[in-house]
Amino acid sequence: MPPISPDMAFLFEELPDGVVVLDGEGLVDGVNQAFLELTGRAREEVLGHPIEAIIADEDLVRLLGFSTIFGADVTRDNSIIFTSTDGSHRTLLVNSAKSERLLQTLLTARATGAVQQELADTTRWAASEQERADDIAQARDALATTNDALRAAQVELEGAYARLQSEAATRLKLEGELRLAQKLESVGQLASGIAHEINTPAQYVGDSIQFLAESFESISGVVAKYRQAFSQLLATPEYESIAQELKEIEEQADLAFIQENASGAFERAADGVVRIASIVSAMKDFAHPDSPVKCPADLNRAIQTTLTITHNEYKYVADVETFFGDIPLVSCHVGSINQVILNLLVNAAHAIGEVVGKNGEKGQIRISTVRECDTVRIDIEDTGAGIPESVRDRIFEPFFTTKEVGKGSGQGLAIARSIVVDKHSGSLTFITEAGKGTTFTVRLPLTG
Ligand SMILES: Nc1ncnc2c1ncn2[C@@H]1O[C@H](COP(=O)(O)OP(=O)(O)O)[C@@H](O)[C@H]1O
Ligand SMILES: [Mg+2]
Repeated sequence: MPPISPDMAFLFEELPDGVVVLDGEGLVDGVNQAFLELTGRAREEVLGHPIEAIIADEDLVRLLGFSTIFGADVTRDNSIIFTSTDGSHRTLLVNSAKSERLLQTLLTARATGAVQQELADTTRWAASEQERADDIAQARDALATTNDALRAAQVELEGAYARLQSEAATRLKLEGELRLAQKLESVGQLASGIAHEINTPAQYVGDSIQFLAESFESISGVVAKYRQAFSQLLATPEYESIAQELKEIEEQADLAFIQENASGAFERAADGVVRIASIVSAMKDFAHPDSPVKCPADLNRAIQTTLTITHNEYKYVADVETFFGDIPLVSCHVGSINQVILNLLVNAAHAIGEVVGKNGEKGQIRISTVRECDTVRIDIEDTGAGIPESVRDRIFEPFFTTKEVGKGSGQGLAIARSIVVDKHSGSLTFITEAGKGTTFTVRLPLTG
């Protein structure tokens, strides 16, 4: 068996890895310096000896035999425990290759230290990563629990917020109603006080006018007689100067004009006083405070009263026609119903006002009442502009208005609906056609 050539031995010496050449018998045929240093052996301890001689007893090579481990043509990364001269163990990573022709086995060895260090580091890193992953998983679980709790809290919060909002809206509505009710009450008190105050003087103005009218008629009779006598005086020469004087006085006083127009003036004055009396009585009716329980009321009369009171609101824009049906008394808070009629009338007048403003023609408001089974139905129809489609679902909302500030408060329909629907279990509906007008319909059960 040819030994390793000196050239090759030189080459092996240059390598950083340990190199061992074994012959067919398994004896060390050649070894380089690097291997001796790695194993801590002297050359003579190794050369010519079986490789097993420097391998630890517990190593697999010793247990299973050299050919079991290095039998294959090429083996890689066998971790072999070598023993050094001083008996210490050196674990080296060994690769092997067989040379068929020369029946030799070539081993290369390198220290596993660096690899092990790296492995250990990697293992430690992996362990700490695992720990970190566990921590993260725990934190994630905790977060998930907290998230669930947060979500539940958020849902609860949203519910509470919604409740708060609806309560706030209700409170606003009630506040609005209360404010209006208070205002109406004080206006009502004022009105009934004024009505009372006007009543007495209106009465004696009326009485006096009647007295004056009657007196004037008697005086007119007397004056007619005087004038007859006076025309005779004119024909008598000795009374001519006094007759002339009388004629001048008559002309100055415009007696003919007075006689012609006085009776008309008395009639108008008497008429005016009657109107004042009816307005005053309507005001007293209207302002009459509602009793806490519902009372039977004549709605036709209530509507007439409201029309008298609101005459000023609509007289320039619309003529009002009423068609009062034969309806029974309705158990209700008549003051509130007056309020509803008033709000609907004012809206009708405003709607017509918009159109009148454009073409100058007066519009029409038709109010009718009719009995329908156990309800009384009131229709208030106007020839106004109609309600645009876009706002139809909103008109009953409190504070919703399409009118400029000062003209509309957006409360009218909200209050009307609350009175009719909530307080009287009735209904308030409308039909409308753009450009033609609107009809609001109030239905009230007879029994309230
Ligand atoms: N008869 C009607 N014709 C046309 N629009 C109406 C009529 N009645 C009510 N509306 C509309 O409904 C809105 C709300 O009415 P309302 O609650 O009485 O408030 P306001 O009259 O103060 O605006 C009005 O601004 C108007 O746009
Ligand atoms: Mg209104």
